[in-house]
Amino acid sequence: MDLAKKVARIGIVFAMKGEAMATIQYYKLNKIKEIDSIEFYSNDDDSLIVSLNGKCAETGADNVGTQPATLNTYVHCTTFNPDIVINAGTAGGFQFAGAQIGDVYVGSRKVVYHDRRIPMPRYDDYGMGNYALLNTNAISRKLNLKQGIISTGNSLDFVDKDLQLMKASQAVLKDMEAASIAWVCKIVNKPFIAIKSVTDIVDNDIPTEIEFKKNFQLATANLNQKLVELIDYVKHKSIDEIFNSAE
Ligand code: ADE
Repeated sequence: MDLAKKVARIGIVFAMKGEAMATIQYYKLNKIKEIDSIEFYSNDDDSLIVSLNGKCAETGADNVGTQPATLNTYVHCTTFNPDIVINAGTAGGFQFAGAQIGDVYVGSRKVVYHDRRIPMPRYDDYGMGNYALLNTNAISRKLNLKQGIISTGNSLDFVDKDLQLMKASQAVLKDMEAASIAWVCKIVNKPFIAIKSVTDIVDNDIPTEIEFKKNFQLATANLNQKLVELIDYVKHKSIDEIFNSAE
């Protein structure tokens, strides 16, 4: 990774169209390409590329989860070669760790999985993922974003073992994509930032899907507001300035 390279093109990976709409409208992005299910949008000079996982042809559902996110990120990076990849989306938050509905977080320290349990030497660590993130302290400070560890799995709900692993990882947020996107970024050598807005509380008794639907609009509006600030912050800066800024 060339730490001195200035960011000219920002790639933003979303899972759901509903998560991305505010951003697509804000920047007046045009749809430029569809590669299989993945949809690409850009501004006039292609300095901002937004990609969506797209829809499942059979069910009409958005292709959420780690497989579509992996494909989306890989095709995005190999087709458009962004200087930095941002995963923007929604997440569940742990209230015991301070998360509240509508809070926007930048991922910090690492992203992990909580539903890839392979109890054999080496495979246990492989399953957890544990992808290190670049230092987001300056981003958090400048943009007034909370910071937290994100844990990824392929279910909106969780089983007891998932919860145990999320707690062991000190996760503050639970999502369905970030770790898989971090994995692709590691392979293709792209700097990665995750920005997530809280739609629901993991450690309360309200069914997740009820809270998710109720708070989706608030969370995505907050996400877009902070994403615009993040885009302004990273553009034209070097990777070194973005992640190691001591100011
Ligand atoms: N996205 C929004 N809320 C979520 C949750 N509770 N788990 C996984 N992904 C989510």
